[in-house]
Amino acid sequence: MLWFITTLAITAFICSSAYAYDNNPLQDICVAVNDSHASVFVNGKMCKDPKLATANDFYFSGLNVSGNEVPGFGIAVKAVDVNNMPGLNTLGITLVRADLEPQGIAPLHTHPRATEMITILEGTVYAGFLVPDPANFFKSRLFSKILNLGDVFVFPQGLIHFLYNVGHKKATCLFYFNSQNPGLILIPNSIFASNPPVPDDVLAKGFQLNKSEIAQLRKKFS
Ligand SMILES: *[C@@H]1O[C@H](CO)[C@@H](O)[C@H](O)[C@H]1NC(C)=O
Ligand SMILES: *[C@@H]1O[C@H](CO)[C@@H](O)[C@H](O)[C@H]1NC(C)=O
Ligand SMILES: *[C@@H]1O[C@H](CO)[C@@H](O)[C@H](O)[C@H]1NC(C)=O
Repeated sequence: MLWFITTLAITAFICSSAYAYDNNPLQDICVAVNDSHASVFVNGKMCKDPKLATANDFYFSGLNVSGNEVPGFGIAVKAVDVNNMPGLNTLGITLVRADLEPQGIAPLHTHPRATEMITILEGTVYAGFLVPDPANFFKSRLFSKILNLGDVFVFPQGLIHFLYNVGHKKATCLFYFNSQNPGLILIPNSIFASNPPVPDDVLAKGFQLNKSEIAQLRKKFS
């Protein structure tokens, strides 16, 4: 049994190393490249030969304008990440600008690999996250705040959270993630718009609804 657990622990360690993300960097810089011939070593993405790195690898321009609208939610997002700023490779950080129309929403979602800190540049948003109640896993606690210009709030890693523009004008926020690849799980969509679908019985029992109500929810999110 001890042997089994030891083997399991070693295997887990080796596997997690193979898929390592956001470790402390083992080098000063590691500019991401797609061409393996231009690379020297691997830690996350391939790294460009440091001799070939330039200031532009560590530069992004364009966060002065909003990003792409997400249809139906009244929110537009623009990310600065390793894909458009290759010098971010292995540094464990991502930045996102979000613009919310009045009543625009970042619906209930979670980032499995990152804590997210937000700051408000314009407007008024209602932000909240859910913490499971350790005394009763059938309940959770809502931690929420109305945020205005200059206010900062943090969503701890992995917890379900949301943002809602409760003001009368556009709201602009910046989100900082302590991961190169925070991940995004939209709760309603991942449940009701999966492919293949989660069986009706599982959803009906799980949400204490009947199958026609489940069918309606599927329609809304697919
Ligand atoms: C590398 O590939 C990604 C994904 O295909 C692309 O978005 C990015 O622009 C490419 N980067 C470079 C430096 O070619
Ligand atoms: C945003 O910044 C870019 C790059 O500096 C510039 O070309 C563009 O005119 C700016 N747009 C606005 C609306 O300020
Ligand atoms: C499902 O629930 C809704 C709302 O409670 C109800 O109106 C409807 O009749 C139910 N449908 C079935 C098939 O039980």
